[in-house]
Order: sequence, then C-alpha cells, then structure tokens
Amino acid sequence: MAKAAALAVLLLVAAALLAVAPAPARAVCNMSNDEFMTCQPAAAATSNPTPSPSADCCSALSKADLPCLCSYKNSTWLNLYNIDPKRAMQLPTKCGLTMPANC
Ligand SMILES: *[C@@H]1O[C@H](CO)[C@@H](O)[C@H](O)[C@H]1NC(C)=O
Ligand SMILES: *[C@@H]1O[C@H](CO)[C@@H](O)[C@H](O)[C@H]1NC(C)=O
Repeated sequence: MAKAAALAVLLLVAAALLAVAPAPARAVCNMSNDEFMTCQPAAAATSNPTPSPSADCCSALSKADLPCLCSYKNSTWLNLYNIDPKRAMQLPTKCGLTMPANC
C-alpha cells in the first residue's frame, strides 16, 4: 500500500515536471510545428500541391532559419509529413525570400 502511494506521488511529480518543461516552441528551423504545417500543402508530395505557399507559411519562413532548412534537403524525415523536399526548398523563393547560395 505504501509502495503504491509512493508510486502515485512519483507519477504526480513526473507529470508536474513535464507540465512545466518548456514546450518545443521552435520545432523546425525556428518554425513552430504549426507554422511548419502551414507550409505543408504547398510542398506536399502529391501530384497536386497548392501552387503557392500561403501568407502564413511565408510569414513563418521569413523568420525561419533557412540554412537549417537546407540541411533537410536530402532528408527522408520530410516524407513523414508527406512533404517533397525539392518542393519545400522552393518555398522560400516563392515567398520572395533568398535561399542561401550553397543550399
Ligand atoms: C525565430 O523566430 C522568432 C519568432 O518567430 C523571431 O523573432 C526570431 O528572430 C527568429 N530567430 C532567428 C534566428 O531567425
Ligand atoms: C543528396 O543525395 C544525393 C543522392 O543521394 C547526393 O548525390 C547528394 O550529394 C546529397 N546532397 C547532400 C547535401 O547531402
């Protein structure tokens, strides 16, 4: 019984710690996960992605770490989000931003 109570307290403490832990607000290259997902439709790995990124996406990209984004160029990680890396790399340009030269 005491053991179970101790375990319960431990779980509560763990939950409290998780609650105060800083959320990963800047999930991807200084974009939050939500911001990142605003760009997903325009870079989707489908036959008909939306032709241009949304204003929300461009606004997110304008604050994003573009050299960091470049490092995802060859990443299969983007596939998990159904994003075509090649299309993703074109997004900043479509937003009027300049990609790093060596990207
Ligand atoms: C990261 O994003 C925040 C908020 O969107 C912005 O204020 C900041 O300048 C950005 N940092 C870099 C290094 O671009
Ligand atoms: C990306 O992958 C291609 C083919 O696998 C390879 O030729 C190229 O060097 C890679 N580029 C980077 C930046 O890793």
